[in-house]
Amino acid sequence: MKEQILKLLRDNQDRYISGEEICQHFNVSRTAIWKHVKDLQEAGYEIDAVRNKGYRLLSIPDVVLAAEIRAGLQTKRMGQHVVDLQTIDSTNVLAAKLAEAGEPEGTLVIADRQTGGKGRRGKPWFSPPGTGIWMSLILRPKLPMAHAPQLTLVAAVAVSQALTEATGRKAGIKWPNDIFFDDRKCCGILTEMNMESEEINHVILGIGINVNQTESDFPDELRSIATSLRIVTGNHMRRAPLVQRILERFEGLYDQYVEHGTFAPIREQWKRQSITLGRYVSAHTPRGILTGLAVDIDEMGALILQNQDGLQKVYSADIQMS
Ligand code: BTN
Repeated sequence: MKEQILKLLRDNQDRYISGEEICQHFNVSRTAIWKHVKDLQEAGYEIDAVRNKGYRLLSIPDVVLAAEIRAGLQTKRMGQHVVDLQTIDSTNVLAAKLAEAGEPEGTLVIADRQTGGKGRRGKPWFSPPGTGIWMSLILRPKLPMAHAPQLTLVAAVAVSQALTEATGRKAGIKWPNDIFFDDRKCCGILTEMNMESEEINHVILGIGINVNQTESDFPDELRSIATSLRIVTGNHMRRAPLVQRILERFEGLYDQYVEHGTFAPIREQWKRQSITLGRYVSAHTPRGILTGLAVDIDEMGALILQNQDGLQKVYSADIQMS
C-alpha cells in the first residue's frame, strides 16, 4: 500500500492530492493514509501535508529501496523483483542463498551498507552506508561453464556505458571488468558461479560502485587508487536512477550474450570502452607473470598480449597497466 501511495504522489508531483482522493483511490481510511505518509517522511521523502489541500511529494531521498528502483524501470526481468536491505554482510551471499531457494532470474539484492563486502581474490570490499551501490543479480544463463567468465565482461560493458551516460565522462574498462575514471577505480564486479554437471546452475553478479564518497571518505589505503562518481563529476548523484540505467543496459546486452552463446556480439563495445588495449601490461596469472602490449580481446574474453614470444592469451589474471 505504501508503495502505491508513493506512486500516486510521484505521478502527481505538480499538485496536492486530497486525503479524500487517496482514500477513494485505495479504499482505505484517512488515518491509514496518514500513517503511510508518516512512514514515507521518516524514510526521507519530503511530503508536504496541508490541511484542506492534501499531500504533495516535494522531494525524493537518495535511497536504494525497491520502490525507487522499480518506479519506471524499463526492463522485463532484471530488477523486477527487488530485495532491499539497510545492512547486510554481503549482497552476493544473500543472493546465492535466494538463488538456491529458487528465486527467479533477474532478482536483485541491494543494500545501503555491507559489513562483509567481498572483492575479487578474497579481498574485502569497502561498502559504507548512504554512498554506494552494492547490489547482486541472480542470473541463470543456459550456457556451458566455460562461458561464464564472459558474463563479467558483458556486465562491465553495461556498467561503463551507463556510467558514461550518467556522468557525461567516459568510463573505461580495465580488463577484465573494473571500471575506471582518471586511472582510478570506481566500480568492481564479482561473479560467483554455481554449477551442476558442467552446466551453469546460477550465477551471482555482484556490482559495487562508489557513487557519493568524497576523497576523505576512503580509508588511507584506497585514497590514491579509488574514486567515486561525485569526485569525478563534482555532483551528488541519486543512486536509484543509476541502478535503473545499469539494469536496462545490462538486460539488452545479457540477452544478446545468452542468445549467441558467447560475448562475441558485445566484443566491439567492450573494445570501445577499454582502457587496457594499447597499453603495456603485466598479467599475474596462476602460471606466472606475463608481460606485453595488450592488442586485443578474443571472443571468449581472453586478453591478447604481444611480446617477443609472439601473441599470448591471458584467460584469468590480475593485471597492472603501465
Ligand atoms: C572487485 O574486487 O573489484 C569486486 C568487487 C565487488 C563488490 C560487490 S558490492 C556488491 C556485491 N556484494 C559483495 O560482497 N561484493 C559485490
